[in-house]
Amino acid sequence: MAGQEQHRHGHRRRVVLFPLPFQGHLIPMLQLAALLRARGLEVTVLHANLNFPDPARHPDLAFVPIHETLPDEVTSPGNDIVRQLLALNAACEAPFREGLASLLRGQDVACAVVDGQCYAALVAASQLGVPALALRTDSAATFRSMLAYPRLRDAGFVPIKEERLDELVPKLEPLRVRDLIRVDGSDTDALCSFITTVADAIRASASGVVINTFEAIEAAELAKIQHELSRPAFAVGPLHLLAQAPVEQSLYVLDRGCLDWLDAHPPRSVLYVSLGSVACVDRNVFEEMACGLASSGVPFLWVVRPGSVRGVGEEVPLPPLPDGVNEEVRNRGKIVKWAPQREVLAHNAIGAFWTHCGWNSTLESVCEGVPMLAQPCFADQMVNARYVTHEWGVGLEVGEVIERERVAKAVTKLMVGEDGAQMRERAQHLQMQASAATSLSMDSLVQYISSL
Ligand code: UDX
Repeated sequence: MAGQEQHRHGHRRRVVLFPLPFQGHLIPMLQLAALLRARGLEVTVLHANLNFPDPARHPDLAFVPIHETLPDEVTSPGNDIVRQLLALNAACEAPFREGLASLLRGQDVACAVVDGQCYAALVAASQLGVPALALRTDSAATFRSMLAYPRLRDAGFVPIKEERLDELVPKLEPLRVRDLIRVDGSDTDALCSFITTVADAIRASASGVVINTFEAIEAAELAKIQHELSRPAFAVGPLHLLAQAPVEQSLYVLDRGCLDWLDAHPPRSVLYVSLGSVACVDRNVFEEMACGLASSGVPFLWVVRPGSVRGVGEEVPLPPLPDGVNEEVRNRGKIVKWAPQREVLAHNAIGAFWTHCGWNSTLESVCEGVPMLAQPCFADQMVNARYVTHEWGVGLEVGEVIERERVAKAVTKLMVGEDGAQMRERAQHLQMQASAATSLSMDSLVQYISSL
């Protein structure tokens, strides 16, 4: 099917994409766009003004802004994520509807692919008579846990209660209550209602779901989703691997100097540390991380994103480090604001990845055979961390309380211990399975789109 053009009445059919305007969501959507385009479909990306993609980087795609007006609660950094998502959905609904309706006037739109968190756009597309597919940029396991919300609510598992944290969740094993989606600091009822709204919208309005995962790691979860939704679920991942996409535009300037720094290190000797594009840590957690890294004796490359340490402004180059740690960092570590992560993970100097377990980071690590030290911070990261540590056995948790001695012990265990070696072996096995992932699912998706 690759390269085959999707025609109707002599012209190529068009797919309209609508990404959620955050880094971890934009990237997979643009990778999907590249794959659809390579299969002969025309692609228009309807997008918010927030974090909008650079059209010059994607000359094959058409970009159309929806000109939404976003309230402060979406645009101010550090705001409650659940409120941000609710406000974003509300603010984008009408302009998305207008944008899509105006595209429909001149084009043969086969379907819309809408980010799976954008329930309002999903419903709007289907009300306009456009078949809508939901792109899940998280794992099949996470999505399944969202679909299960009504049952979990009736059984009293959610909103999450402190006293049930260690209970296994029936039919969602190996997840425990503590691994379900959580956003500390957000109102638990608001989170519950957001997830239920997303799941209801997908059930009512989506003609299918597209998931950035692959059969070899989530076959059982995918089969169950398909069964529960009774409509197609396409496991089109790992998107970054299949799209062979160049590194996307980033929120920050990439510090490529860290690759030269890695060149000077022996194979598998460096720990890469990054908590992604959204997570923030308290100042004392940052200090415990720094002290633990310093006393582990392991070389490390650490991404400290501007503004990612609470209470320290974006303009401050780096939060002050405790006495003695500065020297250790200079001697053995390198701190950057933003790294070319995929290239870093592919570098042979990298021995392990201390990650927040965002789904993109998890997949990128899996695809490079790099074992992980999991420090999930919020949302789906809890689910991913559980799969990393208990389902696939390719990592260990740093622990819920970040404390320097625990950090040093976990880092040493993973980087130089026997357990770490076994995790690396399993990670390399997953890497082989990831590289064997085919584009069959992508071909089926294109076929499905053509049939709509
Ligand atoms: C969050 C969620 O946790 C994730 O699971 C969800 O699906 C999207 O929102 P985020 O914090 O952005 O995501 O993490 P992640 O999904 O891991 O994505 C981060 C992306 O930024 C990755 O593609 C990573 O390669 C890139 N990155 C990160 C860099 O390029 N450089 C860096 O220094 C850090």
